Amino acid sequence: MKLTLEGVKKNAYVDNFIQQTEKYLVALGYTDHGPRHVGIVATRCQMLAQRLKLSAHDVELAGVAGYCHDMGNYLGRTQHHYWSAMLFSQIFIPEADPADVSRVCQAIVSHDKDEIKIVDKLAAILILADKSDVHRDRVVRKDLKGIMGDIHDRVNYAATNNSLKINPLRKQIVLKVTIDTKEASPMDYFQIFSERMSFCQVAAQFLGYRFVLIINNFKLS
Ligand SMILES: [Fe+2]
Ligand SMILES: [Fe+2]
Repeated sequence: MKLTLEGVKKNAYVDNFIQQTEKYLVALGYTDHGPRHVGIVATRCQMLAQRLKLSAHDVELAGVAGYCHDMGNYLGRTQHHYWSAMLFSQIFIPEADPADVSRVCQAIVSHDKDEIKIVDKLAAILILADKSDVHRDRVVRKDLKGIMGDIHDRVNYAATNNSLKINPLRKQIVLKVTIDTKEASPMDYFQIFSERMSFCQVAAQFLGYRFVLIINNFKLS
């Protein structure tokens, strides 16, 4: 069987793991890691893979990695990248090509590791697609107490817009974030997301690009 994004979306195990993850993280009060987030990440993965002129097969694999990267959260938040890869391999090892399963699993594990070492474009693409999704819609606890009680929620809530673009001519990958400064300051954003942004920098460098972050028209690169 060939791994495709549409095929994986129809897989009942994948679907249940994502639903279960959403239930679990909503109960914990975490930001959205459910269908909305993984749908956006899968689409961004495919967009980046296409613009990087990867093969049609790799574009599919990038979408698959994006769609499945967080589905292990319901087994435990802190090691969820490993759980997601383990579940992915359990579902697809019996049917899919061994090289494809290996590459997708490695991309999934790499998306949230402390000691980041990228050896495959799929992993770099997934990091950029995942870390760029900072948005108000991800905040589950939208009551004032919820938003103000957690700086992650507050900064996500303040992010009213984000876009990820790639410019092959300038060799730049540009993340634009609009922060509502009534809710949080750009400084708050850095405090929370500096590690994620340096992941993006490493990922972009692996692809031969420069990562550019623009917050409220203030450019950092
Ligand atoms: Fe994750
Ligand atoms: Fe994610």
